[in-house]
Amino acid sequence: MQPLDFKARPPGALPVPFFALGLLGLLAVPIAAAIDPAVALSDHPHAPGVLFLHLITLGFLAPTMMGAYYQLVPVILHVPIPCPGLGRWILAGLAAGVVVFLLGWGVRFPEAIAGGGILAGLALYAFIAQVGAALARLRRLTLPAAGFVGALLALAAVGLLGPLLALGFFAHALLVAHVAAALAGWLLLTILGATYQLVPFFAATPPAIGPRFGYGPTALVAAGALLLALGAAPPVGGAAACLGLALWAADMARLARHGRQARREPVARYTVLSIGLLVLTAACAEADLLGAAIPVRVLALTGILAAPALLIMAQLQKILPFLAALEARGVKTEQLFSRQAADRVLPVAALGLVGLAAASALTSPLGVRAAAILAAAAAAAYVAIQWRAFRRFRASAR
Ligand code: HEM
Repeated sequence: MQPLDFKARPPGALPVPFFALGLLGLLAVPIAAAIDPAVALSDHPHAPGVLFLHLITLGFLAPTMMGAYYQLVPVILHVPIPCPGLGRWILAGLAAGVVVFLLGWGVRFPEAIAGGGILAGLALYAFIAQVGAALARLRRLTLPAAGFVGALLALAAVGLLGPLLALGFFAHALLVAHVAAALAGWLLLTILGATYQLVPFFAATPPAIGPRFGYGPTALVAAGALLLALGAAPPVGGAAACLGLALWAADMARLARHGRQARREPVARYTVLSIGLLVLTAACAEADLLGAAIPVRVLALTGILAAPALLIMAQLQKILPFLAALEARGVKTEQLFSRQAADRVLPVAALGLVGLAAASALTSPLGVRAAAILAAAAAAAYVAIQWRAFRRFRASAR
């Protein structure tokens, strides 16, 4: 892996507002499920299901992952993000587009669904152009870079097909392509690209220990996503993605096992849990493609909410205080990071999020409400803990 270059980091004003918006989205998701459990119990093609799903994917996952790209591309790959000022407009466009899109589904107003969807799609395309221009300057396609390039190509498909669906050009093939590009392409390839760098970084793995399967897992997941999106032999595409994820999980285990980090920090524990949940989701999805009776809802909420949310919460609780301390000279990371708080909040979050997925699979409105309240409490405590880091960023930006 290339060494991290924190001197190349972008100004905090670029990624941090995306993280802040993502955390607000993370808070809004369980609150919505606690208020109306039907949103977590409704399947396609019902509006509440689409609304809830996009609250997760566009309100929480997309801004957090976009913030991560802004931070990771310069620090990991050593190429600067061009026109950092554009980030503010992208954030405004995405936030406005997502709010209008979600309200549109809420009140069943097709013009708002279409208008919000197009605005969100344009914001995603501006982001792809900006980060794509940075990636075009790479001299070598390292393992994290390969994941990021594949993920951005998939996001281009998502950002085109989503607005088309929102405009009413509905066809089953378009929906399948949109979902496969979004989940198997953009979400999974981003996670693979980021973890190949972040897991050995946090575990302090010696540089001599590399991933055993090299580019194999990324190539398999990308090929699987493509086959799934094209609707060509879905079980074969699903099997390729599953195999890629299993090999990636084995690589992650190897990198963590050889780490010099003696204490098992929360970041390591919850990263391992989320990797396990992702592999489980992929296995269930494949069983579903092969015709086994798997409740599809559990796939959605385990793979789209619980696993990525735990991964993001585990990584950010370490990264945000660290970045804030870098930005505000004279402040130490430990002053902004509380291991005790992480130890208390992350188990509650795990219980709430996994409980939400399980209750949704069991179609239990009471279970959804109880788990959502737990998850909302954990998300609120998490946001409050990170608030100190956010305040430091604001103070140093002045
Ligand atoms: C510009 C952004 C986006 C727009 C406008 C959009 C729009 C849509 C629309 C209109 C549907 C079909 C709803 C129906 O059944 O009629 C849909 C489905 C879906 N989208 Fe998106 N989407 C966007 C981004 C995303 C992203 C980023 C993800 C995931 C990371 C995602 C995941 C999904 C999933 C999983 C479904 C299937 C929902 C279901 O069957 O219940 N979308 N999207």
